[in-house]
Amino acid sequence: MRVVVVGASGAVGRELLRLLTTRAVLPAAAAIVPVGSRSAGSTLPIAGEPVEVSPLSADVFAGADLALFSAGGGVSREWAPIAAAQGAIVVDNSSAFRMDADVPLVVPEVNADALDAGPPPRGIVANPNCTTAVFAVAAAPIHRAVGIRRVIASSYQAVSGSGAGGIRELDAQVRAWSAGAEPPPREVYPHPIAFNVLPHVDGFAPEYAGFTREELKLRDESRKILNAPDLRVSATCVRVPTFRAHAVSAHLELAGPCSPGRVRDLLAAAPGVIVDDEPEAARYPLPLSVAGQDDVAVGRIRACEVFDPGIVLWIVGDQLLKGAALNAVQIAEALHARGMLIRAER
Ligand SMILES: NC(=O)c1ccc[n+]([C@@H]2O[C@H](COP(=O)([O-])OP(=O)(O)OC[C@H]3O[C@@H](n4cnc5c(N)ncnc54)[C@H](OP(=O)(O)O)[C@@H]3O)[C@@H](O)[C@H]2O)c1
Repeated sequence: MRVVVVGASGAVGRELLRLLTTRAVLPAAAAIVPVGSRSAGSTLPIAGEPVEVSPLSADVFAGADLALFSAGGGVSREWAPIAAAQGAIVVDNSSAFRMDADVPLVVPEVNADALDAGPPPRGIVANPNCTTAVFAVAAAPIHRAVGIRRVIASSYQAVSGSGAGGIRELDAQVRAWSAGAEPPPREVYPHPIAFNVLPHVDGFAPEYAGFTREELKLRDESRKILNAPDLRVSATCVRVPTFRAHAVSAHLELAGPCSPGRVRDLLAAAPGVIVDDEPEAARYPLPLSVAGQDDVAVGRIRACEVFDPGIVLWIVGDQLLKGAALNAVQIAEALHARGMLIRAER
């Protein structure tokens, strides 16, 4: 099997390389081809061996079974169709194709059935926005059992959600502060992120009526993944000075009664979710404990004081894993289970 990873040196790309070589679900990868721009010509470790990063060109996709894109929307828009035209199945981490009707948007625990209809029409499967994937894994079992009508959500998003640049910016500001030095000029965020919270993730634009694109991704992508076109979502997405793992406080209006105990049972039985909910022992999911974990953790499960019937959840997931690299590799595994990944098997 030949796998091309575009954006291999990035925050998501490095996790992709690790998961491809450690999960042992896909057939032993004969070749993983890391692709980059500035990193081209340098090496990245793959299964402990240094492998040279190739520049992006049509040639790298020749004979590829799978192309994992993780280099931003512009790169995906231009190059994913080129990879697909050469016969590779593309799993795209960017927002370029997510809302296109002929591109499945998949969280395998939730809607792997979107892959049941045969090879994706354009050869592209989209991976959701990171906050949305984390939210959807926790919301889906409740939506399936009782239905969710409306959501009010606030996110607490780690700087690695902005890629390697976000990690560097928080790190540099914290180091400068502890050394009593001037921080270096900002490149990623419009304000200091160290010791601050920014109610601003992704861009604002006039057509979004005061919302950010991230907030509307949470609304629109949740509708598509949960197959809930009438779901109403009002979100405030916030960048916080944590390095890894996004948290979401979600107030859900339900279509029928569902006690906190039943929600706990539904979530405990759901794939990809763990319940961590012993508030009296100060146990609830935390970014520091969830970072590096595959499962999304849910705690602080309680009845809602505003929506009736309603439920409140505190959801934390490693957005580089379930919100990006792990979900992308799980999509590839789901395609493989359906005989759609390896060219010779299609
Ligand atoms: N971070 C997250 O939590 C997260 C979650 C979900 C989805 N995503 C999406 O995943 C993608 C990557 O995010 P990231 O956080 O990993 O960003 P990142 O750390 O900034 O990495 C970006 C990667 O893209 C590569 N790249 C940029 N321009 C390129 C070009 N013209 N040709 C080839 N490679 C190019 C870079 O390679 P060089 O270093 O070689 O230039 C680097 O490997 C984005 O689309 C993002 O929206 C990220």
